[in-house]
Amino acid sequence: MKALILAGGAGTRLRPITHTRAKQLVPVANTPILHYGIHSMVAAGITELGVIVGDTREEVMADLGDGSRFGASVTYIPQDEPLGLAHCVLIARDFLGDDDFVMYLGDNLLEQDLEAFVGAFAAARDGEHPPSAQILLKPVSDPQRFGIASLDDDGHVVHLVEKPTEPPSNLALVGVYLFDSEIHEAVAAIAPSERGELEITDAIQWLIDQGRRVRTEILTGWWIDTGKLTPLLEANRLILETIEPRIDGTVDDESFIDGRVVIEAGAEVINSTIRGPVAIGANTQVVDSFIGPFSAIGADCEVRHSEIEHSVVMERSQVIDIPRLEDSLIGSDAVVSRSKRKPRAVRLMVGDHCQIDIE
Ligand code: DAU
Repeated sequence: MKALILAGGAGTRLRPITHTRAKQLVPVANTPILHYGIHSMVAAGITELGVIVGDTREEVMADLGDGSRFGASVTYIPQDEPLGLAHCVLIARDFLGDDDFVMYLGDNLLEQDLEAFVGAFAAARDGEHPPSAQILLKPVSDPQRFGIASLDDDGHVVHLVEKPTEPPSNLALVGVYLFDSEIHEAVAAIAPSERGELEITDAIQWLIDQGRRVRTEILTGWWIDTGKLTPLLEANRLILETIEPRIDGTVDDESFIDGRVVIEAGAEVINSTIRGPVAIGANTQVVDSFIGPFSAIGADCEVRHSEIEHSVVMERSQVIDIPRLEDSLIGSDAVVSRSKRKPRAVRLMVGDHCQIDIE
């Protein structure tokens, strides 16, 4: 089995962060979102990865390289415009050949590992009515934002619709799909949707309409489509709750570390309190500060005379004299500072290379 990972597209909902970076590489607990999916595929024995890249291809290629550090091999498939999820399958035809494959949306993060999901598909394909595809569903409270499935009384999927204004159910399609080679016929047969994209939901509907079997599974663990600020911070919280505490950096005698905390090598904590779950990247300095639960501070940052809680601060940024920064996402190489210390909380989404001085 191969994997097709979608890391192109435009990250409009996380701007300004995604003006300058691929949304799939935004860090969660100091690790790019995309890495979690890749580790999960490799753990399921899938090591031939095709990666769709768009405008941010240079950054994605520099980050993943040839895939060897994940124990995988990566083939890049450039997509000139984000013409839809089914378009990605269309342009990956040569890479995929006639193999079964998992299609993984690079901005999705899920708790469940892939092994059982892939195993169930393989077992069903050895059975009497082998499925052509397998989808993963999860009840959601905002079905207008997703592809939505309707099931019949036997639990078989009968209808799929993309981002419906009047959702027929609350069962959303999670961004992990399994296909056999019949999907190539489907993506070639469908026309672009009203929003001008070749929709994978339409391609799967085509399979159903042709009488092919589409197997469904309901996801039991958590799942997050990280393309927006609130879900991104939520994913950060969920992953930080699972990190193994480890202190490889230095902590002075005036500092206090409490709970699940990772401090990477070269990081220094001076006269500060770190209350986990928290991750602090390599060579970061935390001085006279408080870092509170569910915060991830990237590598080479500086936090001075500040309080940070429930936030992501990306690499090489500085937070100086901010009495309280909460529920925030700060891009890389940014400077957030305040000339006078006044007790007021701030909530920010700051792009890469920005300088914010709060008066
Ligand atoms: O997250 C699950 C949802 O993902 C599903 O419920 C929907 O049915 C599915 O259409 C998709 O909806 P999104 O609006 O979240 O898709 P998005 O445009 O964010 O693209 C998902 C990933 O695929 C993202 O990493 C960017 C990448 N992509 C997207 C398009 C449209 C590409 O690489 N090329 C593309 O042409």
